[in-house]
Amino acid sequence: MRHVLALTIGLGLAAHVAQAQDNTEIQLDPDYAQGEHYATVTRGGITEEIYAAAEALAAARAGQPFPYGTVITMEDHRGGTLHRTIVMEKRATWEGGTAGAWRFREFGPDGQPNMTENGSRCASCHASQEANDFVFTRDRMTN
Ligand code: HEC
Repeated sequence: MRHVLALTIGLGLAAHVAQAQDNTEIQLDPDYAQGEHYATVTRGGITEEIYAAAEALAAARAGQPFPYGTVITMEDHRGGTLHRTIVMEKRATWEGGTAGAWRFREFGPDGQPNMTENGSRCASCHASQEANDFVFTRDRMTN
């Protein structure tokens, strides 16, 4: 029974990868800034403020993969004002995607999701960071 279930889930995931990955379950947590603010990245007129839960940082420091349920939130400020907030989230049920178990979503400065961004582009670029569990700034969590 267990095998049948695993096969069904596996086939479901395979079908998903070929299509765009549904990211509409990702919400912008209004309390994300209560997590750890672990990095600021500046480039030109862009300032990025990045937040994750203490559990995620602990996993990085222990050299472990991020636990399922991890959410990383990044504010993208341009010219001093919030331009967008982007979120990546890891769930067991999303395993097998372009960026492993992570999916991606973008929110406007008003907190509303950008429905034209399905996260595929995001996943393609983050796929290069497979060795860091798909997180570019994982090393920033460990120091
Ligand atoms: C062309 C490559 C590229 C694309 C496309 C991209 N990212 Fe990233 N992302 C990065 C890089 C590089 C960083 C590290 C911060 C920096 O250098 O700006 C990053 C950082 C992040 C972070 C902080 C955690 C981490 O990985 O360091 C989140 C969250 C994130 N991106 C979400 C998204 C979302 C959502 C999208 C799509 C709307 C997206 N990214 C598209 C390259 C990309």
